[in-house]
Amino acid sequence: MRIGMFDSGIGGLTVLKSFLKHHPNNEYIYYGDTLNMPYGDKTKGELLEKSKKIIEFLQSKNVDIIVIACGTVSSNIYNELKEFCKVPIYNIISEVKDYILKREYKKVLVMATSATVSTHVFKNMNQEIINEVACPKLVPLIENNKLDLLDEVLDEYIDKKEDYDAIILGCTHYSIIKEKIKNKMNSNIEIIELGEIVAKNIN
Ligand code: DGL
Repeated sequence: MRIGMFDSGIGGLTVLKSFLKHHPNNEYIYYGDTLNMPYGDKTKGELLEKSKKIIEFLQSKNVDIIVIACGTVSSNIYNELKEFCKVPIYNIISEVKDYILKREYKKVLVMATSATVSTHVFKNMNQEIINEVACPKLVPLIENNKLDLLDEVLDEYIDKKEDYDAIILGCTHYSIIKEKIKNKMNSNIEIIELGEIVAKNIN
């Protein structure tokens, strides 16, 4: 099977990595829209325009399915893209709900882009236990490899007084810095990555 994947930049490569681990025999075409990143501060209209062009490109490469390797696009415009796309298209968020509801978490932190947090797609999975935090400074730092500033920026977003059982990395870029994020929290916290969940669930 030939799978097309896209994101605003290098973040979706973490999804590709999970797919390569779980489905090594597929062929993959990856599109990183670095020219237009970050997506996390874009409107739905802007996200639609960019995503449709990418989908057309991937379809021209005869992909069998498309995986949206981006939390921002998945949370904001999945239904519109499903109608537009001529091949089956998967988002990387829906499966997370099942995953969370099967476990007995007391408190879960979701870190994501501003555009994703504005949809409350994660909060709506379980209002009681989920806290969402928008982290708009992270993607530009990761894309521009300014990782020396990460420590300080993460302190702005993570409230260490809260005792979380798990953190959902609601933006695929954050998987690149997951060890840094983990180091800010208690050592047995679970880090939940969107790419891993979707790669395990797609056959
Ligand atoms: N990696 C994307 C996501 O999962 C997009 C981040 C961005 O470009 O702001 O949300």
